[in-house]
Amino acid sequence: MPKVSIIAIDGPAASGKTVVGRLLSSQLGFQFLDTGLMYRAVTLVAIQQSTPLSNDAALTTLAAKTQIAITDTPDGARVLVNNHDVTGSLRDPEVEAAVSRTSAVAGVRAVLVAKQREMAAAGSIVMAGRDIGTVVLADADIKVYLEASAEERAKRRGLEKSGTDDKESVGAVQKDLEARDKQDSQRASSPLRPADDAHIIQTDGLSIEQVVAKIAQLVAARS
Ligand code: DC
Repeated sequence: MPKVSIIAIDGPAASGKTVVGRLLSSQLGFQFLDTGLMYRAVTLVAIQQSTPLSNDAALTTLAAKTQIAITDTPDGARVLVNNHDVTGSLRDPEVEAAVSRTSAVAGVRAVLVAKQREMAAAGSIVMAGRDIGTVVLADADIKVYLEASAEERAKRRGLEKSGTDDKESVGAVQKDLEARDKQDSQRASSPLRPADDAHIIQTDGLSIEQVVAKIAQLVAARS
């Protein structure tokens, strides 16, 4: 019986949390949850229903009423919101632009954190986000914080989105990422930061497999 049951992975946008978490979870036979998808799902519904993004109470009610079902597979996640498949819309530019606002609302966070804890209750899970090690699963067996330079993250995201890492598109992606990092780390409610007991992994120049191997070593050392 492995001693490690709950693994938290945090880090800024495009630091590799999702790909690393997904591969690690499949190696361990654990579930994987990318919590960013939940914030994106609430943001999408707010946009679709024209909920004012300045109205914290309305956003909180919306988060509480929205049913989110996420199925993760090695090829990616499928997200159903109120029984509709919204997987293809969660990275739309409108969602990308508004998600830092909805995720700064304390009420929205409280609703989603409660759902995330329910999902982790059975154990054997890798959960990725911004506040997993600090808030959601503060008792996680292993906490990892992935770092990468803004330039490296922009290159990865640019390649993922448009298949190109030319200077102009990477520059634009980097500006968006830096704006989102700033909002996510300066918000009052659960700002992005490493937990005091997190293992910080600097991933510049490392492959996904190398990062996963580093975390697997931490798991082996605890098991
Ligand atoms: O990981 P991502 O880029 O899909 O996350 C989208 C947004 O959701 C991100 O800007 C911050 C927010 N988020 C959060 O506040 N807390 C989490 N646990 C996960 C994501």
